[in-house]
Amino acid sequence: MKKNFSNKEIVLGVTGSIAAYKACELASRLVELGAKVTPALTKSATELVGAASFEGITGRRAVTAMFEPLQNPEVEHIAVAQRADLFLIAPATANFIAKAAHGLADDWLSTTLLATKAPVLFAPAMNTNMYEHPATRENILTLKIRGCTFVGPDAGRLACGTVGPGRLIDPMAILEASAPLLRNQPDLKGKRIVMTSGGTQEPVDPVRYIGNRSSGKMGRAIAMEALARGANVTVIAGHSEAPLPYGALVIPVSTASEMAETAVGLAQECDVFIAAAAVADYRVDAPADTKRKKTGKSLTLTLVENPDVLGLVGAVRQGGQVLAGFAAETDDLIKNAKAKLEKKKLDLIVANEVHSPESGFGTDTTNAAILDRSGHVDKLPLLSKDELAERLLDRVVGLLNRS
Ligand SMILES: Cc1cc2nc3c(=O)[nH]c(=O)nc-3n(C[C@H](O)[C@H](O)[C@H](O)COP(=O)(O)O)c2cc1C
Repeated sequence: MKKNFSNKEIVLGVTGSIAAYKACELASRLVELGAKVTPALTKSATELVGAASFEGITGRRAVTAMFEPLQNPEVEHIAVAQRADLFLIAPATANFIAKAAHGLADDWLSTTLLATKAPVLFAPAMNTNMYEHPATRENILTLKIRGCTFVGPDAGRLACGTVGPGRLIDPMAILEASAPLLRNQPDLKGKRIVMTSGGTQEPVDPVRYIGNRSSGKMGRAIAMEALARGANVTVIAGHSEAPLPYGALVIPVSTASEMAETAVGLAQECDVFIAAAAVADYRVDAPADTKRKKTGKSLTLTLVENPDVLGLVGAVRQGGQVLAGFAAETDDLIKNAKAKLEKKKLDLIVANEVHSPESGFGTDTTNAAILDRSGHVDKLPLLSKDELAERLLDRVVGLLNRS
């Protein structure tokens, strides 16, 4: 995802919402991702948040008035409109959305917005009644029809005390929605990816389970990268410490059987299926209905084999689909991964070493190799999970384009 933002020119338009202060965090994350951010505050926004905060975060002058840039050609509105890769209006007030929908140009931000051909993303924030007012609904629809993108708002308790939609969505969701707009060639646009992520949990009784050490970080990285490339992403999510992207449709599951049933139901409709979850091979035969008590004796549990998620998905495989899996191994990495690739008739498998401090469950980096059906083994250097996701999806795109 970082690749999408690196060196991109982004105009961050901050308008007069109570949520304006949250745009500071957004600006900070954009800078962290390598973007060059020009902050532009409407007059109302300057009443609610200081321009100096944005200047400190972005290292650039914040534009706050239409005629002040005459002294500063860097922020002359036509020049900025032309060089922008993205206009991000966050938070976007009802007033600003209305102005944009009607092509008004009565301040720097609205004028520059009218002069740009860059993609535009609005993150609305307002009182629920304002958001639900037919005028606002129509204005949003008009802008959507014109090609603008909207993210949020969230629902919840608003500053005015109302409970309902209108709260500025989390900055992370705004970044996720921005990413595909910044990619010159969103090479997974229109493709549907179904994937599994996290770890399964097999009940022993109502309070205990047999689980594994999967953190869900790899699955999150893949989902984020796929979204950044424009894919429509569904995550069948087992237990995960890492939060899943807002932009994905997340279907929570607990056991391997639930994961298998959900995967088979969705696999036929997708272009790509990626199995990144750590799935329990066995489950407790007869989990107790009530909490097991200590008996003073040892306890024997009978384990029975779980359904094989990838095997079942492979059985309903459609022509042209790409099927990729992971092999988390502690020994004989390549040999074991190769056997799994062949047995499950996968197109790609990521052989993942899970036995060292820098590579394994919960780490941010991983030692891996990508194997394909032709027998080619691409041994990768130590990579972050984000980088591994990028490499994997490069290979997936290659296979989709071939078929
Ligand atoms: C404290 C305060 C909070 C406000 N919060 C919002 C808000 O969240 N959303 C909104 O649409 N308007 C909000 N307004 C009203 C706008 O500031 C007002 O409509 C203004 O004209 C917007 O100007 P702008 O769109 O040029 O920034 C708020 C006003 C005040 C005084």
